[in-house]
Amino acid sequence: TSKSFLSQYGSYFVSGTGLTLVLAAIGVFFGAVLGTVLALMKRANLKTQATFIVKLGKVVGKVLSNVYIEFVRGTPLMVQVYMIFFGATWLFSLNISAFVAGAIAVSLNSAAYVAEIIRSGINSVADGQTEAARSLGFSTGKTMRYIILPQAIKNILPALGNEFVTVIKESSVVSVIGVGELMFKTATVQGASFSPFIPLVITALIYFVLTFTLSRGLGLLEKRFNLSNRQ
Ligand code: ARG
Repeated sequence: TSKSFLSQYGSYFVSGTGLTLVLAAIGVFFGAVLGTVLALMKRANLKTQATFIVKLGKVVGKVLSNVYIEFVRGTPLMVQVYMIFFGATWLFSLNISAFVAGAIAVSLNSAAYVAEIIRSGINSVADGQTEAARSLGFSTGKTMRYIILPQAIKNILPALGNEFVTVIKESSVVSVIGVGELMFKTATVQGASFSPFIPLVITALIYFVLTFTLSRGLGLLEKRFNLSNRQ
């Protein structure tokens, strides 16, 4: 044909990239929200005074969040994507669209990783900080809010940025159920153009530009807000 490759197939890459970004944004947003909840559940303190029912709730929350985090991190995202997509039909007779299934799977997956990011960020603050705050009369809540979290955030935010980069790349897995993101569109172009290699080169470059720009941008923000203690 006389038309150049890009003028013929460029729009596939553009729309695929758009959907990849939408998926990643949804995944990171809901992953962060649910991940925070999971981290709180996992960190619940059983040693404080509380009624039986509150303690029982904390224990159940701890067990459930632990099981959830271990299961999600211990099984492939691809399996989870299929399980959400087909499970919605099999369990609830719901025919959710591939996009909705993909967005749910990526969010639920990311949440488990975010929970661990938050937990390790909080644990990275030395115990002496809590002890000092408590002996100065800070309540546990205020210790967390004014002493621990401001320090933990220095570890949490950069790691959340890395999670965003990971989710951009890993969202490619949802192409297996037919979500028209970048990897799915790449396969379409491979078929339509009878050219298996060139579309992959373009796609790899697009993913690289996305992740490299994002991590550089986050690096600058980190510097700007002095989020890192290292020089
Ligand atoms: N590819 C791996 C998997 O399928 C890693 C997924 C990582 N996900 C994340 N949100 N960091 O399990």
